[in-house]
Amino acid sequence: MVAMQNLNSPMSLSSELTRADLEAFWMPFTANRQFKDNPRLFVSAKAMHYTTVDQRQVLDGTAGLWCVNAGHCHPKIVEAVQQQVATLDFAPTFQMGHPAAFQLATRLATLLPGDLNHVFFANSGSEAVDSALKIAIAYHRACGQGTRQRLIGRERGYHGVGFGGISVGGIGPNRKFFGSLLTGVDHLPHTHNLEHNAFSRGQPEWGGHLADELERIVALHDASNIAAVIVEPVAGSTGVLIPPKGYLERLRAICDRYGILLIFDEVITGFGRLGASFAADYFGVVPDMITVAKGITNGTIPMGAVFVRQQIYDAFMQSATSGIELFHGYTYSGHPVACAAALATLDVYEQEGLFQRARDLADYWEEAVHSLKGLPYVIDTRNLGLVAGIELEPIPGQPTARAFECFLRCYQRGLLIRTTGDIIALSPPLIIEKHHIDELFGLLAEVIRELP
Ligand SMILES: Cc1ncc(COP(=O)(O)O)c(C=O)c1O
Repeated sequence: MVAMQNLNSPMSLSSELTRADLEAFWMPFTANRQFKDNPRLFVSAKAMHYTTVDQRQVLDGTAGLWCVNAGHCHPKIVEAVQQQVATLDFAPTFQMGHPAAFQLATRLATLLPGDLNHVFFANSGSEAVDSALKIAIAYHRACGQGTRQRLIGRERGYHGVGFGGISVGGIGPNRKFFGSLLTGVDHLPHTHNLEHNAFSRGQPEWGGHLADELERIVALHDASNIAAVIVEPVAGSTGVLIPPKGYLERLRAICDRYGILLIFDEVITGFGRLGASFAADYFGVVPDMITVAKGITNGTIPMGAVFVRQQIYDAFMQSATSGIELFHGYTYSGHPVACAAALATLDVYEQEGLFQRARDLADYWEEAVHSLKGLPYVIDTRNLGLVAGIELEPIPGQPTARAFECFLRCYQRGLLIRTTGDIIALSPPLIIEKHHIDELFGLLAEVIRELP
């Protein structure tokens, strides 16, 4: 039995969840049987902490899932959502509109680097990615280069779970379970290399040359067939892979040379994670499109978006003689409540100076991350902005088991971490204080020391 006595919802005020009550929800990316035997339930959250069903406080080391950058239940965001849902709950954005969607797009455009200045709304990172891939192919067609249909991703890339995203992504199980995926896709090699780069602080020195693999791919397929390259500037979900120095710059230069669009998937790096609005700003490399989600609404209401350069939008507006220029959209593109959440979130980021705050804390964070070096099983520590990856040596024959054990023990001790493979990924809310950082790494070090 799982006691649920302190929930706020009237329906569940005095209810208890039994094992049977947990059955119907088929949980995403979860070991369902393990979870349902030993459930971990949050019932409320505030700022840096979750509260569990048994009223324990858990320090959030992951901003939920890389999304709650301004901390949980921020009163300004909560109020904006409450007001909006009571005023205009839904309005279509197909051949109709409502002011907040236009206000939000305009506001976002002022934040964006270079001449990225148009916004297509989706509801998640996965949808943003699939939208961007479709826009890339349709863009080339609009420019009279309809043969440019091939998409280039990267090994160990994660771009969500749509068929487009898993095709350009580079994760083996997606190929194992879901078949042949999109045709016309190729992949760059990933850049992770412990032999050269273990325990790097910030961007690794070695590996910039791996961007030149794009030249090989262009030689193989011919540029006239390639629409776009998509990469995460910092890969998160496959274990915090930080781009080597010069790597992104080289990708940009090669894309420019061959007229290939460069897409940065900033679903986790967008909105301050590295101490700048976007990773594009942080690295000083401007892509042709950026995909975002998560932090755009502080995780409060689902929303994703694609940001595109002026020339991409113009190509659509100029090539279609009349009627609908992009044959694509979601019922909830620019949903009023999501727009209200996003506008309030942007206010909070600005008023509280949270991106600068992340930048100011990055050195302190780096020291804390690398203090784990030398602990049992720790084969790498890496960091950038307010992101950390701690790689553990796998138990022979049982990949992922050691990190998962670490996750369970941290949760018991009052700390939420995320693990992927045998890598611990940390990405706290940007409101984190130095004493939270001390607590986080203190607890984590204790747990790692005690791992069997
Ligand atoms: C880089 C990247 N792209 C896309 C996604 C998918 O986002 P969503 O889960 O909102 O579909 C994620 C999710 O973690 C991500 O990290």
